[in-house]
Amino acid sequence: MTQYAHITGWGMAVPERVMTNDEISRLVDTNDEWIQSRTGIKERRVADAKDTTSSLAAEAARQALEVADLAPEDIDLIIVATSTPDFTFPATASLVQDALGAVRAGAFDLSAACTGFIYALGVAADTIKSGSAKAALVIGAETMSRVLDWKDRGTCILFGDGAGAFVVQGSESPGGVLSVLLRSDGSGGDLLSLAGSGRPRAAGLAGFLDPTVQMNGREVFRFATRVMVASTREAVAAAGKTMADISLIIPHQANRRIIEAAARGLDLPEEKFMINLDRYGNTSTASIPIALCEAVADGRLRPNDYVVFVGFGGGLTWGATTVHWDVTPLPAAATRWHQVGRRTRYGLARVRSFGRRVLRKVEGAVFGSPTAKEDEPPKPPGSKK
Ligand code: UT7
Repeated sequence: MTQYAHITGWGMAVPERVMTNDEISRLVDTNDEWIQSRTGIKERRVADAKDTTSSLAAEAARQALEVADLAPEDIDLIIVATSTPDFTFPATASLVQDALGAVRAGAFDLSAACTGFIYALGVAADTIKSGSAKAALVIGAETMSRVLDWKDRGTCILFGDGAGAFVVQGSESPGGVLSVLLRSDGSGGDLLSLAGSGRPRAAGLAGFLDPTVQMNGREVFRFATRVMVASTREAVAAAGKTMADISLIIPHQANRRIIEAAARGLDLPEEKFMINLDRYGNTSTASIPIALCEAVADGRLRPNDYVVFVGFGGGLTWGATTVHWDVTPLPAAATRWHQVGRRTRYGLARVRSFGRRVLRKVEGAVFGSPTAKEDEPPKPPGSKK
């Protein structure tokens, strides 16, 4: 039976701490008027010591599970799109898997800069359509504030922290994710980058510097307006739809002027675009799912609408997807007991995680080194001693 990939849950989490443009103007030579007129951003959320990319991701995922009315063990796959993982490994997705108690899920991180969420949604949808998974969590989560150069006014004004998550589920009823377009042009990699551990770093006075986001803003701006228009058109056509069928476009929230230029290029009124970057700035992979959550909450996206998600970012990468928003929200009363069950499971997940760590230590102490003689794997027949 043909499987279709439907978005059945969504959630978001942002740090409590709000940072205004006036606050940034005390750090670098800028001002509220410049930032608002050139970007549309008024404020952003910034992680404090207790927030991590994985903690924000797990909170957004819990909310998405609530909406989908699924238990963590119903999830087969967790993909976290991020440029600011807690660790290079373990994957942030594995930390989320443990925090939720999603004991049957595979988990990995995906890196495609700000386009990462579209890539992750595309991979999850195809895995579901192939029948390899029935339910997936797709998460975009970032703590960009930790990789910004707070002396560079060209970048530190733009970004914010947060996370957004979708539950994607398979069903035989047609709809859901209709088309996915993913593209990359690595020749523009130098235009927007964050160094990793596999390349030499610039040595500073204090030794090796922590890497920070480096960007050629003007070039990224030009690239963004071009690819948003082209990839939206392509993704809509690939879904067998026309622009007139599309109720809402949820673009990556980087700069209001980029979205306005895309609206002009597509000959659409700005009301067709969801914009909430004034309150969150550019949260990279989290921007599209956060904007989706607010679009649903504000009634801007209604059941049976067609919606386009379109993004761009470092790589260079870009992508777009057309989705039939064929979502029927569950009545709250039907999920109350499930809600209690899920909360209990999150508590148990913490106990299980702690228990497994202790058990591993005890096993290590009792059985000693895994290279001890008795633990050696048997030699294949005919091999030398
Ligand atoms: O997820 C993808 C992430 N990246 C993006 O989407 C970035 C896309 N690019 C942009 O959003 C814009 O290029 C910026 C907001 C980064 C910059 O806006 P712009 O209108 O392209 O400004 P600009 O770089 O052309 O600079 C214009 C002037 C320059 O001064 P001069 O050379 O004309 O004297 C800059 O030094 O504005 C100056 N400037 C600032 N002034 C006050 C640059 N940043 C600031 C600032 N405050 N924060």
